Amino acid sequence: METPSPSPLPSTASPVAPAPATGTLGVLLPGLGAVASTFIAGVLAARSGLKPPIGSLSQLGHLPSRQPGADEPRIAEAVPLAGLDDLVFGGWDPISANALEAATAAGVLNDSDLNSVSGDLESIVAMDAVFDQRWVARLDGQRVKRVGTKWDQAMALIDDIERFRAANGCDRLVMIWCGSTEAYQEPSEVHQTLASFEEGLKEDDDDISPSQIYAYAALQSGVPYANGAPNLSIDLPCMEELAAERGVPLAGKDFKTGQTLMKTLIAPGLKARMLGLRGWYSTNILGNRDGEVLDDPANFRTKESSKLGVLDTILEPERHPELYGEIDHVVRINYYPPRGDNKEGWDAIDIFGWLGYPMEIKIDFSCRDSILAAPLVLDLVLFLDLAARAGMSGIQDWLSFYFKAPQTSDGEEASHDLFAQQRALLGVLDGLRAD
Ligand SMILES: NC(=O)c1ccc[n+]([C@@H]2O[C@H](COP(=O)([O-])OP(=O)(O)OC[C@H]3O[C@@H](n4cnc5c(N)ncnc54)[C@H](O)[C@@H]3O)[C@@H](O)[C@H]2O)c1
Repeated sequence: METPSPSPLPSTASPVAPAPATGTLGVLLPGLGAVASTFIAGVLAARSGLKPPIGSLSQLGHLPSRQPGADEPRIAEAVPLAGLDDLVFGGWDPISANALEAATAAGVLNDSDLNSVSGDLESIVAMDAVFDQRWVARLDGQRVKRVGTKWDQAMALIDDIERFRAANGCDRLVMIWCGSTEAYQEPSEVHQTLASFEEGLKEDDDDISPSQIYAYAALQSGVPYANGAPNLSIDLPCMEELAAERGVPLAGKDFKTGQTLMKTLIAPGLKARMLGLRGWYSTNILGNRDGEVLDDPANFRTKESSKLGVLDTILEPERHPELYGEIDHVVRINYYPPRGDNKEGWDAIDIFGWLGYPMEIKIDFSCRDSILAAPLVLDLVLFLDLAARAGMSGIQDWLSFYFKAPQTSDGEEASHDLFAQQRALLGVLDGLRAD
């Protein structure tokens, strides 16, 4: 499979040459649900040669050649990434007992794919979660840490991380939040500085959510962290301060799969042809646990704000008011159990062309949510580990390719155009080549 080779690539922020990826890389996943279990099962299948890692740029993509006519090297060969055989997995979940139970409950993979890796999946036992139903009203978690204050919970997670590191002989670790989307929240006083956040942990501040406690524990332990969900977790001044202090790379947020992936493929094309857009109505039905959580208005609001942001930065209505000055953009998600993990997303797109004549585009994407998200988890694990070995810390803008609401290091709105994001990603990888 070939990646398009846009040339020249943007220059990178002169990272140091990454240290070699020797030894074991531990992958820690808060949230052993559909995405996490599908990701682990897929890596196990790929490393036994049972199935190819489709959808993973790190495994199947290429970098542009540096000399005219030369071969385009595979990313996995040109860039010093950890190998699939070097990965070990762990996680926390308030409901799933282990990764096999999570995968079976999720119903994403068929029996034959599950059976071939079931022993390994079963051996990945979920650690007790830091969980609070106030943030995810639809879940009743029982496998939770019952320890004092939020500070005590953070210390318990740090202990878990160190125990996992020692038990598995890990040379390095990465943590990716694959837990449920937490209820909508604006940053508050407690999130402004590291000192106020630590004070808040000790005082059990109501504004500190479980995902923020995991993020704090990861960063304190020197573990790179990415947020696959749209809730506030590392996009907070206190976390950026801690990441800078500990020299740890971060990335977020909200995996770009399904409908938003399609949106960020099509919108740049409409703009490239200077076609107008009057409205974009997106609706989804899905029936997995994620859909159930998002059925709660407080949790949906978190997702909605992440999904709505993408069109403006691609279309730049301020530069093209005659084309994009008046857009109605609506996003809906409905929980519909018969559909399980196989989400169906409909888009009704109202565009206009020459002399203003209207046209309609309809997309009906019957996708598989976790099948699209799993390879993103793998790429983020490998690229965050690479960034850490190259001494890159703080928010990794170049990983925007993977997110619906990309975080940026300068606080500016990120590009949502998938192709611009791909160029930025390949540019950094090119700068980190081993040759
Ligand atoms: N699948 C996709 O395409 C996609 C895309 C973007 C974002 N996401 C986000 O990724 C996350 C995972 O999606 P999923 O389909 O696997 O959902 P899921 O419901 O199957 O899994 C989430 C798991 O997180 C656990 N959990 C909840 N709170 C927790 C806590 N405090 N600590 C540890 N575990 C906790 C739940 O028990 C559940 O098992 C969701 O937030 C979802 O919105 C998924």
